Amino acid sequence: MNTKRKTSDMLVATAQPATTTDGVSLQVSGLKLSLGGKNILRDISFSLREHGINILIGPSGAGKSTLLRCLNQLHADWQGEMLIMNHHARQWPGGTDALRHQMGLIAQKPAVFPCSIEKNVTFGLSSRERKHPPAGLIERVLRQAVLWDEVKDRLHESAAILSIGQQQRLCIARALALSPSMLLLDEPTASLDPRSKQLIEASLSQLAETMPLLCVTHDIEQAQRLGGQIIFMCDGRIIEIASADTFFTRPERLEAREFLRWSTCDCS
Ligand SMILES: Nc1ncnc2c1ncn2[C@@H]1O[C@H](COP(=O)(O)OP(=O)(O)O)[C@@H](O)[C@H]1O
Ligand SMILES: [Mg+2]
Repeated sequence: MNTKRKTSDMLVATAQPATTTDGVSLQVSGLKLSLGGKNILRDISFSLREHGINILIGPSGAGKSTLLRCLNQLHADWQGEMLIMNHHARQWPGGTDALRHQMGLIAQKPAVFPCSIEKNVTFGLSSRERKHPPAGLIERVLRQAVLWDEVKDRLHESAAILSIGQQQRLCIARALALSPSMLLLDEPTASLDPRSKQLIEASLSQLAETMPLLCVTHDIEQAQRLGGQIIFMCDGRIIEIASADTFFTRPERLEAREFLRWSTCDCS
């Protein structure tokens, strides 16, 4: 558990953990979700270790974004079991908002607020911390997002003047300012130029040394570059979980082989 946020620390210290699974940050078992009367997530089970990159891939409509939103508690009606840092998600100390801080969600399109770069970084902090940010916090998270060198001389300027690639890195910095225990990223580089893509991949590789990342991508080459654990989804189910080396050279399931060949499969 990241220990930088005092409130979360206090709350977590009083919580009763569920059954302990050493070295695992997230354990999902039998997760199901229906939306509009349709089963969107069907019996999803997987775990994320305490650090490292996990790539979620699969055809459009497989349920990847829905799964990330479910983990971030943006869909409330899921069934099954979700253990985060060995605590049941539904009984998270401090409630849903505190849990969302622990699981930073980065969307495909960066959403920066109409204020300065600096204020964007501190946006999610308490009003006291926004007025007096912890020493070094802004520089630290902007460095982790590989953005510091490009903005250090203009932190008071509007975030709107940044390029889309810089705005995406700013969103990563903003999530990091909340001291998350893991990051969920939904196609974070889908609309970015190759240089921005490269910078974000560098940031993700570095962050994965200290926390688990769950990153959706349609970019097979990016998935190969980032490596780690591959979770392949199709039609609301997890079809195969394997290391990147194994998955991209010797996928076990026919659906995975079809997907790697055609970027689609006929599960649904
Ligand atoms: N709020 C919703 N209501 C009904 N169906 C939805 C809703 N959100 C997503 N879906 C459906 O869930 C399925 C999975 O969507 P999504 O998670 O966005 O897939 P992916 O990210 O893998 O492309 C799609 O069939 C989509 O139409
Ligand atoms: Mg999606």
